[in-house]
Amino acid sequence: MGIIDEIKDRARQNRKTIALPETMDKRIYEAAQRIVEEDFADVVLIGTPEDIEKYGAGHDLSKVRIVNPFTDPNRQKYIDKFVELRGAKGVTPEKAEQQMTEDYMYYACLMCKCGDIDGVVSGACHSTGNTIRPALQLLKTKPGISSVSGFFIMEVPDCELGCHGRFVFADCAVNPDIDSEKLAEIALLSADSFEEFTGEQAKVAMLSYSTKGSAKHADVDKVAKAVEIAHSMYPDLVLDGELQLDAALVPKVGELKSPGSPVAGHANTLVFPSLEAGNIGYKLVQRLAKANAYGPLLQGLSMPVNDLSRGCYADDIVGVVAMTAVQAQLAFE
Ligand code: ACO
Repeated sequence: MGIIDEIKDRARQNRKTIALPETMDKRIYEAAQRIVEEDFADVVLIGTPEDIEKYGAGHDLSKVRIVNPFTDPNRQKYIDKFVELRGAKGVTPEKAEQQMTEDYMYYACLMCKCGDIDGVVSGACHSTGNTIRPALQLLKTKPGISSVSGFFIMEVPDCELGCHGRFVFADCAVNPDIDSEKLAEIALLSADSFEEFTGEQAKVAMLSYSTKGSAKHADVDKVAKAVEIAHSMYPDLVLDGELQLDAALVPKVGELKSPGSPVAGHANTLVFPSLEAGNIGYKLVQRLAKANAYGPLLQGLSMPVNDLSRGCYADDIVGVVAMTAVQAQLAFE
C-alpha cells in the first residue's frame, strides 16, 4: 500500500472538513467528487452559483457543501473576525469584505479560524506566496513556533535508503532567508512531520556541502550552529550535522565520513541549508528518480493549510486533502 492510501485510511477514522476555495479551476471539481466518493473527508467548495455552473459542469457535487461568499449567513461573522485579527494592520469592515470576496483563500482561512472547517487546500491556480500569505496573516503559527516552513513527503520507488524510500525534505517552499535559529526549528517541525505521516522515528540530517568541518565557510558555520542550537533546545531529537547528502543517506559513506553518528547513513528527514537547495533538491529527486513528491505541506501553522503545485493533477489534490485531514486530526488532539 502506498503512503497516500495509508493516509486516506487514517483520514476515514476521524473525518474532517476541508475547504477548496479555487472554484475557478476544473481540477478542483474532479478532486472534490473523488474525495466524497472515496469517503475520507467532507469537502466545502467556496464559490458563486455562476462559478460552479461554469467550471463544475458534469460533476456530481450532491455530497459536497457549497458556500457562496456573497450570500453565506456566516459572512458577517467572518468580516468581524477579519477586522478583529487585522484591524491594527488597517483592515476595516469594507476592506475585509472586499478582500474575502475577491480572494476566497481569505474566506477559507476565516472559516478555519472560526472553527467552521478543519483545513484548507489551495494553490492549483495561485502562486505559493498568494496561497500561504492569508494563512500566515490570519491563522499564524502554533504556540512556541516562530516560522512556518514547507515540506515534501518523498516516496522514492525501489529505494532502501531512508525509511524504505520514504523521506521528509524541508524547507522546500517558504523561507527565502534561513538563519541557524530557523534551521533548528525547521529540524524540529520536520521530525514531527515525518513521525506523524510515517509512524517511524525521525533521523534528521542537517545538510551542507561539508561533513563535520571538512570545508570552511560561513554557510557551513550556519548549519553547524543550527546543529548546536537543535541539540541544546531539543535534546531528544535524533539529529546530526553538518552532513553531506551521501554521508547522510548511504551507510558506508556515513561510517567513513562521520563514524559513530546516530544519523549518518540512515537519515530519513533532510533539512536543507537554504530554500534554493531544498526546492531544487526535491525537484531533482522527483524528476530523475521518478519519486512521488507530496506537498508542499506547511508545518508550524496553528491550523492545517496546504499548497498545491500549479501543475498538479486532480489526483494530487485528492492526496493533499487526505494529508490535510490527517494534520487536522493531530491539530485537534
Ligand atoms: N512564518 C510565519 N509567519 C510568516 C512567515 C513565516 N515563514 N513569513 C512571513 N510571515 C508573516 C509575517 O510576519 C507577516 O505577518 P503580519 O502581516 O501579521 O505582520 C505576514 O506573514 C506577511 O509577511 P510578509 O513578509 O509581508 O509577506 P511576504 O509577502 O514576504 O510573504 C511569503 C511571505 C509568502 C512566505 C514569502 O516569503 C514567499 O513568497 N516565499 C517563497 C514562496 C515561494 O515562492 N516558494 C517556492 C515555490 S514552492 C514550490 O516550488 C513547490
